[in-house]
Amino acid sequence: MRTQVVIIGAGPSGLLLSQLLHLAGVDCVVLERRDPEYVLSRIRAGVLEQGMVDMLERADVSDRMRKEGLPHDGFTLSVADTRLRIDLKGLTGGKSVMVYGQTEVTRDLMDAHRARDGKVIYEASNVTPLDFNGPNPSVTYDKDGTSHEIACDFICGCDGFHGVSRASVPDGAITEYEKVYPFGWLGILSYVKPVDHELIYSNHPNGFALASMRSEKLSRYYIQVPTGTDVKAWSDDAIWDELKIRLGSEAADRIETGPSIEKSIAPLRSFVAEPLRFGRLMLAGDAGHIVPPTGAKGLNLAASDIHYLSEALIEFYGEKSAAGIDSYSQKALARIWKAERFSWWMTMLLHQFPDLGPFNARMQQADMDYLASSHAAQVSLAENYVGLPY
Ligand code: PHB
Repeated sequence: MRTQVVIIGAGPSGLLLSQLLHLAGVDCVVLERRDPEYVLSRIRAGVLEQGMVDMLERADVSDRMRKEGLPHDGFTLSVADTRLRIDLKGLTGGKSVMVYGQTEVTRDLMDAHRARDGKVIYEASNVTPLDFNGPNPSVTYDKDGTSHEIACDFICGCDGFHGVSRASVPDGAITEYEKVYPFGWLGILSYVKPVDHELIYSNHPNGFALASMRSEKLSRYYIQVPTGTDVKAWSDDAIWDELKIRLGSEAADRIETGPSIEKSIAPLRSFVAEPLRFGRLMLAGDAGHIVPPTGAKGLNLAASDIHYLSEALIEFYGEKSAAGIDSYSQKALARIWKAERFSWWMTMLLHQFPDLGPFNARMQQADMDYLASSHAAQVSLAENYVGLPY
């Protein structure tokens, strides 16, 4: 088999890239290790920046998001006794974010793919990118007991942090920067009315808590738990009780509780690989970088990578120019590092760090007091939260 671009990974990055390439007449095949049900079962973040919303529009997969997504013009921060609403719209000259789950974005992309008969090969095992340092790369994989090879011009690694794409790059060609935080987020999804119409991020002495949502009837909550915590150690009741404490008395009085339909723990990590291009292999999304979820940047960063990467590939085929391919890594990384900074800062502000001692706690309080008293500080937070320009 031969195609122009092989995309490894059928999560939101891979499917969005495939959709944009398809609309521009570039031929591609997507290879995915899992089955579609597994891909859709992963509950991830749910806040889309304006830039990503616009991209979904351009990719012709925005109809359901426009109907069912919830535009949010602000959110609340709470650190110890200070509560502060961040008026995203007012502070950014009219920008906002869209609450719409990553699972739903992926479902919409899958539907679009199916409708146009796009090529996604699910349950492809032993996927191996080959010869990407030369002009004739290829990807081999096994499916139903048979080995296959696809010759291509480019390989795009959209296969996440644990994927084969980054692992295929020789050690000496890649530099990795990493910070691991000593805690994770225990998340709960439940068919109850959200406690507030906007998100609440709270730093309580017991630890971080976040009140989020997927719709007016479906809530998503998180609490900080130490690394190594077993999800089975937390009953639904224990999580609700802890949320009532950490979100504060006002929320506690209003919070609706119910059985969880999903419960899982995600570790927090900051990670960047440099560069993101190795000859004819390019990395995008979690394959190249991870942010802690505190700033809701993970999916949005994947989308901005796909923006740069799709433009580069479309320019390569349309204008016979490799300029975009040559500058992909540098352009994407410039935006990635800024989102890393923002996510790290939100994480440091909003979690309990017992090992960092009382000085750190005072820095958090000072940061919060500064935010509460400075319009400039709020503008800075808001412009990062709604998303820096592509
Ligand atoms: C979520 O709803 O899953 C969510 C929202 C905001 C975040 C992280 C996760 O910062």
